[in-house]
Amino acid sequence: MGEPAAAAGAVLVQGGTVVDATGERRADVVVAGGRVQAVGLDLTAPPGAHVLDAGGCVVTPGLVDLHTHLREPGGEESETVETGCRAASVGGFTAVVAMPNTDPPLDSAAAVRAVLDLARAATAEVAVAGAITVGRRGERLAPMAEMAALGVRIFTDDGAGVQSAGVMRRALEYGGALGVTLAQHCEDASLAGGGSMHEGSWSSRLGVPGIPGLAEEVMVARDIALAGHTGTRVHFLHLSTARSVDLVRRAKADGVPVTAEAAPHHFALTDSDVSGYDPVFKVNPPLRSQHDVEAIVVGLADGTIDAIATDHAPHPPESKDLPFDQAPPGMLGLETALSLAITELGLPLRQVVGLLSWRPAAIAGLDVASGGEQGGPVVAGSPANLCVIDPVATWTVDPSALASRSRNTPYAGRTLTGRVRHTLFRGEPVVVDAVAQR
Ligand code: DOR
Repeated sequence: MGEPAAAAGAVLVQGGTVVDATGERRADVVVAGGRVQAVGLDLTAPPGAHVLDAGGCVVTPGLVDLHTHLREPGGEESETVETGCRAASVGGFTAVVAMPNTDPPLDSAAAVRAVLDLARAATAEVAVAGAITVGRRGERLAPMAEMAALGVRIFTDDGAGVQSAGVMRRALEYGGALGVTLAQHCEDASLAGGGSMHEGSWSSRLGVPGIPGLAEEVMVARDIALAGHTGTRVHFLHLSTARSVDLVRRAKADGVPVTAEAAPHHFALTDSDVSGYDPVFKVNPPLRSQHDVEAIVVGLADGTIDAIATDHAPHPPESKDLPFDQAPPGMLGLETALSLAITELGLPLRQVVGLLSWRPAAIAGLDVASGGEQGGPVVAGSPANLCVIDPVATWTVDPSALASRSRNTPYAGRTLTGRVRHTLFRGEPVVVDAVAQR
């Protein structure tokens, strides 16, 4: 989706270690005309080339976020396609999947086209996720075929789950014929209704109505059954509980076509972080127990969970400046995801990058095998969407320094390891030395 921008000038990425799905090797990378021209040792800079220092760094395919709220149209005070893509670039992402819970929602070809038009000038590729149902109301199927004709490969009512099993079954049958993936925000409203945080010992202690893990798990179980029945792939958004991970593990062992993602806050934070009633820690699904966090980490390590996705959910300060139960759920994610994964997961860097790049690229249909330009490998001729990561640099999160239009990060003051040094999008250095270039 989208159209490649005008070919950028030549760039030499010098002195790094290339890490992609095929392995790792010390190599310089020459980029010109939006593509990788050469990968090898001691390459010479083409005349006039911009030389980017990658000493001590790894050079990877650009990261791909399966779950970004860009807020346009309707929520421009929190984020726009332009500012969200700038935040993506700073976080090392060269592609994002934009969620359809905008105002109005992205539930028609016209709405999808408008976002794709805005994305033409952005610093990352924007793939749009279309709504499954009209207005995201869970009742009537949206015109998925006309959105698929524009290149939409993922459909979801994210922000809400499709409550009716019958509607979801029809969506899967229709989606299967279109060759698309349905992504589910698993939350049974009748179990979650009225809750603001994870239901457990902390919610009892704090007197905040809880959202039980069960609200997620019953829909995961239901949709595994529906995916098995219809044969259409279901992607589970932001899994947050130990039982959800177990259900997906067993479904995969049974050959059911499912994939799953987890968000950084579901492995980096727990429900105990809500103890000060600060709405910056309010998110949906909610921050869960330490036991759940440990299961998410195991699921990411053993491949049960295919990808890390940010659920980047910008909100303006005035909306988060409300009592906990009244504030909207959601937290920023794009600019901290990679660093949190490096800092918290204890996994080899190549595995972390796989969870953030080539595996989500394949799920979104943005990988080279699907005709896209994301996820690598970093070889001559491939599209020059690259991320240069310093894996040992440390930095402290400062909300006022974020590229996002919003400030609702729960990691303010936290020192993280691993930082994006440069990002190249279609050959253009859009981030240099951790600074956005436009
Ligand atoms: O915390 C959340 N915020 N969860 C969602 O599902 C929606 C998102 C938003 O759009 O703010």
